[in-house]
Amino acid sequence: MKSTYLDDNIPSTPGKFKMEKSNYYHRLRWHPHLAKVTFWSVVFFGLIFVFLFNSSTISTDLSHKSLKIKSWGGPGWEKRVKSSAKIRSETETGYSVLVTGAAGFIGSHVSTALKRRGDGVLGLDNFNDYYDPTLKRARQVLLEKRGIFIVEGDINDTVLLNKLFEVVHFTHVMHLAAQAGVRYAMQNPKSYIHSNIAGFVNVLEICKNANPQPAIVWASSSSVYGLNTKVPFSEKDRTDQPASLYAATKKAGEEIAHTYNHIYGLSLTGLRFFTVYGPWGRPDKAYFFFTKDILKRKPIPVFESGNHGTVARDFTYIDDIVKGCLGALDTTEKSTGSGGKKKGDAQFRIFNLGNTSPVPVSDLVSILEKLLKVKAKRRVMKLPRNGDVPFTHANISLAQREFGYKPTTDLQTGLKKFVRWYEKYYGSGKKSDH
Ligand SMILES: NC(=O)c1ccc[n+]([C@@H]2O[C@H](COP(=O)([O-])OP(=O)(O)OC[C@H]3O[C@@H](n4cnc5c(N)ncnc54)[C@H](O)[C@@H]3O)[C@@H](O)[C@H]2O)c1
Repeated sequence: MKSTYLDDNIPSTPGKFKMEKSNYYHRLRWHPHLAKVTFWSVVFFGLIFVFLFNSSTISTDLSHKSLKIKSWGGPGWEKRVKSSAKIRSETETGYSVLVTGAAGFIGSHVSTALKRRGDGVLGLDNFNDYYDPTLKRARQVLLEKRGIFIVEGDINDTVLLNKLFEVVHFTHVMHLAAQAGVRYAMQNPKSYIHSNIAGFVNVLEICKNANPQPAIVWASSSSVYGLNTKVPFSEKDRTDQPASLYAATKKAGEEIAHTYNHIYGLSLTGLRFFTVYGPWGRPDKAYFFFTKDILKRKPIPVFESGNHGTVARDFTYIDDIVKGCLGALDTTEKSTGSGGKKKGDAQFRIFNLGNTSPVPVSDLVSILEKLLKVKAKRRVMKLPRNGDVPFTHANISLAQREFGYKPTTDLQTGLKKFVRWYEKYYGSGKKSDH
């Protein structure tokens, strides 16, 4: 019966099918057909396998993507977002602030300071690996302990940003997310366009459409002064000679911000930071990697400009910068537009936030030598033409006038605090391969 059944199901040329033959013969007779069937079955099942394998890869990819999408959203996530952004003391001055770049150096400090005084703070950061992401994760843990949730996502993610503004009516945005670093632009120029231009425009688009529109304070940079030689740098000075792509994107950001202020009534305040340093700082900055290399007895490059000129920076301690950021935030006026329409002129400001006392980089090394009790192996060399400028010096009178900005930490004091943190964090050498 079985064979008949099988036979009945064999799609063959009827003429070759001899029912009257013995079973044995029959089997023999059918062997070539079976071989064919087996062959086509293998091909058939093979194709199914390939299809399933591919589709499983696709579905893995999709699930990966959807996992990514699912890394935010849902009632539990919304609850965390709301609770982090909730103003603690329901005073009239309480803000609800979206801090982009919250896992970064300045962002983590500013978020903490805002939260400490009772403002609601929600962080946003993509935790990219421009420098050791474990440092960003460690900052995240610290912020979590203080009740600050950092949403993991990119400022270019319109859907995510819209969702955040749907869940929370932010009064302010402290926009600090950016591709930082001057020299890295020669390796990865597109990352500067992605974060500092496209990402910034996306943030502005979302803010412009929000109802109510938040006031925005964002990070520009002293690098916009580029090759200027007139010092100290004043906000009125020209900023059309950038020396790096980083500087050019920061300058572009200022121009873009102006158009959003002009067309949509967004209140915008740009802060030109001057070489910020301190605990939880950035490993790509000279004070940070000098410390690491001095401790490892490795040579460090100490640059000089043409004709053995001094390379100096207006190093600004993180606590002073935080005060400046909060001062700027507290003096913002409301945006005037709503739902993408301007209703009146809005505030547009740019401030230098520096320390007003440039220090030669060789002095920075001497201070570190004393604090670390190790003699540095200095390699004096000419400043390469890769984006760094020889000198920065801030005129801060505008910020002083507007919100009483007054830096109080000198380099010696600030570096002492940095070194103390560094030794505690990297301590026994466990994490020293950062
Ligand atoms: N530290 C300084 O000396 C200094 C000087 C001048 C200007 N600034 C500016 O201040 C801001 C903060 O600088 P920082 O020193 O804290 O740098 P940082 O690199 O430590 O912080 C920036 C954070 O933004 C995040 N980020 C980058 N691109 C993103 C994107 N597309 N989406 C979401 N998150 C993104 C990064 O992961 C990082 O955590 C930056 O805008 C920087 O350009 C810093």
